[in-house]
Amino acid sequence: MGHVLVTGATGGIGMALVSALVEAGHRVTAVGRDVARLDVRGIEADLAEPGTLATAMGVLQDAGELGDVQALVHCAGISPIGAVADADPETWRRTLAVNVASAAELVRLTLPALRRSRGHVIFVNASPGMTGVPRWSAFVGSKAALRELADSLREEEAAHGIRVTTVYPAATATDLLGEVRRAFGRPYDPESCIQPETLAAMIVWALSAPADAYACELSVLPTPR
Ligand SMILES: NC(=O)c1ccc[n+]([C@@H]2O[C@H](COP(=O)([O-])OP(=O)(O)OC[C@H]3O[C@@H](n4cnc5c(N)ncnc54)[C@H](OP(=O)(O)O)[C@@H]3O)[C@@H](O)[C@H]2O)c1
Repeated sequence: MGHVLVTGATGGIGMALVSALVEAGHRVTAVGRDVARLDVRGIEADLAEPGTLATAMGVLQDAGELGDVQALVHCAGISPIGAVADADPETWRRTLAVNVASAAELVRLTLPALRRSRGHVIFVNASPGMTGVPRWSAFVGSKAALRELADSLREEEAAHGIRVTTVYPAATATDLLGEVRRAFGRPYDPESCIQPETLAAMIVWALSAPADAYACELSVLPTPR
C-alpha cells in the first residue's frame, strides 16, 4: 500500500481509479483542476501549464509527503477533434501539454521519491493500435509522444528499478468517449464498452505486480458479447 499520485481524477476513468485505489488501501493524491471536490487530498493544477506544476507540487513537499510517492498514474487527457487544416497552434500546445508534457514534468518532480521506492509510473494512452486517424492528429500525435516518453523513461530509469507501464484501453464508457463518438458521427453504446471500474481494477492490478515482474504494456479490450 503506497502513496499514489493520480491525474485526471475528476474524469470518468480517473474517478473510478481513485475509488479502486482507496479501496485497495492506497493513499491517493489527485493532481488537477477542481480536485477539491474529491474525497482524497487534492493538488490544484492546470496540466495545460506544465511550468506551474513545480510550484503546485510544493504543497506536497511542504507537507513532507512528496518524498513518499510510490506511483504516478497519468490519466488526464484531452481529445480535440479537427483536421490539421483547422487546428490552431493553441490546440496543439494544449493537447501536447495536458497529454504528454505535464506527465513528463510530474515524473521529473517525483523521480527522487520514485527512485527511492523503486516505484511505478503508469500512463493511460489511447486505444490499442490507434494511429493515423483523420481529424484526430493532435490527439493521436500526443499519445504517440506519450508512448515514446514511456519507452524512453523505462530505459533511463531501469537502473533505479522504476517500472513504467503504458495502458491502452479500448472504448471505455465515459462522457469523453460519448463526445468523441458524436463528433465522428459514430454510435455510442456504453453497455458494449469497457466499464471505467473494470479498467480501474486492471490498473490497480498492474500496480500490485510481484517484485520480480510487471506488465510494461497493457492493452484492454471489451469482451465480445
Ligand atoms: N474513454 C475512452 O474510451 C478512452 C479510451 C482510450 C484512452 N482514454 C484515455 O483515458 C484518459 C481518461 O479518459 P476519460 O474518458 O476518463 O476522459 P474524461 O472523463 O474527459 O477525463 C479527463 C480528465 O483529464 C482532466 N484534464 C483535462 N484537461 C486538464 C487540464 N488542463 N488540467 C488538469 N486536468 C485536466 C480532466 O479534468 P477536468 O475535470 O478538470 O476537465 C479529467 O479529470 C485520457 O487520457 C484518454 O485519452 C480514454
